[in-house]
Amino acid sequence: MRYITAALLCYLSLFVAFVNGDSPHLNFDWTVSLSQRAPFGVDKQVIVINDQFPGPLLNTTTNDVVNINIHNNLTEPFLMTWNGVQMRKNSWQDGVQETNCPILPGQNWTYSFQMKDQIGSFFYFPSLLLQKAAGGYGAIRIHNRAVIAVPFPRPQEEYDVLIGDWYNADHQDLRAILDMGGNLPLPDGILINGLAPNQATFDFEPGSTYRLRISNVGLKTTLNFRIQDHVMQLVETEGSYTKKEYYPSLDIHVGQSYSVLVTAKNQTDGKAYYMVATSRFIPLELSGVGVIRYSGFQGHPLDNMPPGPSMYDYAFSTEQAQSIRWDLAAGAARPNPQGSFHYGSINVSRTLIIENDVAEIGGKLRYTVNGVSFVHPDTPLKLADYFMLSDVFETGIISDTPQKDLPGLGTSVIDAQYHDFLHIIFQNPLPSLQTWHADGYNLFVVGMGLGEWNETTMKTYNMFDAVSRSTVQVYPGSWTAIMVELDNHGMWNLRSQDAEKWYLGQEFYIRVKEVGQNDPSKVSPRDEAHIPENAIKCGRLTSL
Ligand SMILES: *[C@@H]1O[C@H](CO)[C@@H](O)[C@H](O)[C@H]1NC(C)=O
Ligand SMILES: *[C@@H]1O[C@H](CO)[C@@H](O)[C@H](O)[C@H]1NC(C)=O
Ligand SMILES: *[C@@H]1O[C@H](CO)[C@@H](O)[C@H](O)[C@H]1NC(C)=O
Ligand SMILES: *[C@@H]1O[C@H](CO)[C@@H](O)[C@H](O)[C@H]1NC(C)=O
Ligand SMILES: *[C@@H]1O[C@H](CO)[C@@H](O)[C@H](O)[C@H]1NC(C)=O
Ligand SMILES: *[C@@H]1O[C@H](CO)[C@@H](O)[C@H](O)[C@H]1NC(C)=O
Repeated sequence: MRYITAALLCYLSLFVAFVNGDSPHLNFDWTVSLSQRAPFGVDKQVIVINDQFPGPLLNTTTNDVVNINIHNNLTEPFLMTWNGVQMRKNSWQDGVQETNCPILPGQNWTYSFQMKDQIGSFFYFPSLLLQKAAGGYGAIRIHNRAVIAVPFPRPQEEYDVLIGDWYNADHQDLRAILDMGGNLPLPDGILINGLAPNQATFDFEPGSTYRLRISNVGLKTTLNFRIQDHVMQLVETEGSYTKKEYYPSLDIHVGQSYSVLVTAKNQTDGKAYYMVATSRFIPLELSGVGVIRYSGFQGHPLDNMPPGPSMYDYAFSTEQAQSIRWDLAAGAARPNPQGSFHYGSINVSRTLIIENDVAEIGGKLRYTVNGVSFVHPDTPLKLADYFMLSDVFETGIISDTPQKDLPGLGTSVIDAQYHDFLHIIFQNPLPSLQTWHADGYNLFVVGMGLGEWNETTMKTYNMFDAVSRSTVQVYPGSWTAIMVELDNHGMWNLRSQDAEKWYLGQEFYIRVKEVGQNDPSKVSPRDEAHIPENAIKCGRLTSL
């Protein structure tokens, strides 16, 4: 009897420890302000965080609780979003226009969220008003907990490599072009860690292995990433460990993140090598260039920059995408291996076909999802839902398949049931590349193909070891199919990750809730976090 009690007590205390979360709390104060910088010799208003561009590394471990008090020292409203961080049960912290009221100029607001059940490489960026064009981004790492083995030997060092297209024009001027109905021009260059060609340096020691966490933080340009005379071993994509394959170069689409291992040569003499990120699928070849220096060597790399695939070689890119597989045996955030979630044996409960398009609506350029271009209501959807304001949005504006009798404007919300298993086909009828990003979720990328998707193409799906990630590309005139279990309550943004298309309406929200749960304020905190005490009120809620 005594034994049983002791065992029970022990069990209870473990349980309490678990639910209370012994997880460390990390507290940060970030001031977001404008600073005159000139990466390409042309002055520009750059968004800096604590005077840094890129912003500080958010260095965390699975289950850490992060509190970031953001002081808005801009002259515009501000929100930060945490690309790829799932904000489990807590879309209140997602930092996009329909989950949060903006932090007004001169105000501050504290984000508070947990890196729950996640590992991997991600980044943050400003989500409003095309401010991403002014920088304001930075790297996020979520390390494995000590008790869960990382599926490769510990690297000598880790480096964050933020690559992205860059415009010399201020973000307000770029925004004005879009507001007047135009398109963004071609970018002026490619930055690596906020720096112009040959400015970003990375130190290698002979024979050591390094982990590079690479993210495409740009507005719209796919980049091919490669290192002179070194191959890269891919180990992770946006929080999934992958089968370890070697690549001479990697296509990284806007919003995507990869970890690669790079082993330094055994040479003893000092040397330097180029690291290159080259524009893809645009009529202008631009390169971001970093320098890897062996043993602190100060000279320049020898020879020419390593060549990449040809500009419009979509076949190269598609083949590479299909070669990236999930490592079923690796443990990630939880003790059980990734592969113990058998997504391939779950029955699909709903199929959506999501088509991106471009249209002229009211004489202006707009981008659409199934015929609807998103317009923002006066009150964020998440708050309107919580306070049951009935006239802010209605579900059903956007349908499960493309509508040919549109296009039009609308506030698109798809209603979905908790635990539904969704099958989504992203269909891209246009001759340019499309990217989609889901907040709150990772998506199993089960298939890609040319032409129009149909049911017979499902035979080609990878129902075994498809990679799970938050940002997927759809090649021109092609489709990409994903599957996802809706295990995260909340109001979640699905958007074109291309900042221009996003700004011009290519997004929608998925509301994930329990069957029959009609009063969001009565949801158990076990299922979804309550509205944060510090929630900012705006729109119709200002008076509350
Ligand atoms: C990040 O955090 C990990 C785990 O706490 C620590 O080992 C590492 O040194 C930190 N890295 C940086 C760059 O702060
Ligand atoms: C914030 O802005 C105020 C005035 O606009 C300025 O005086 C102050 O130095 C700024 N602080 C930071 C940290 O940028
Ligand atoms: C604003 O910052 C102050 C301290 O600088 C802090 O006490 C307060 O909680 C913050 N407000 C919000 C809403 O986070
Ligand atoms: C460096 O030398 C070690 C020991 O001889 C060998 O195991 C390793 O494969 C070499 N590495 C490279 C990159 O050549
Ligand atoms: C999936 O559907 C099939 C056929 O309706 C059924 O036999 C099977 O039990 C279902 N599997 C699961 C995991 O629900
Ligand atoms: C389905 O798509 C495949 C691949 O594009 C095509 O070969 C096939 O003819 C299509 N089948 C139907 C019934 O449309």
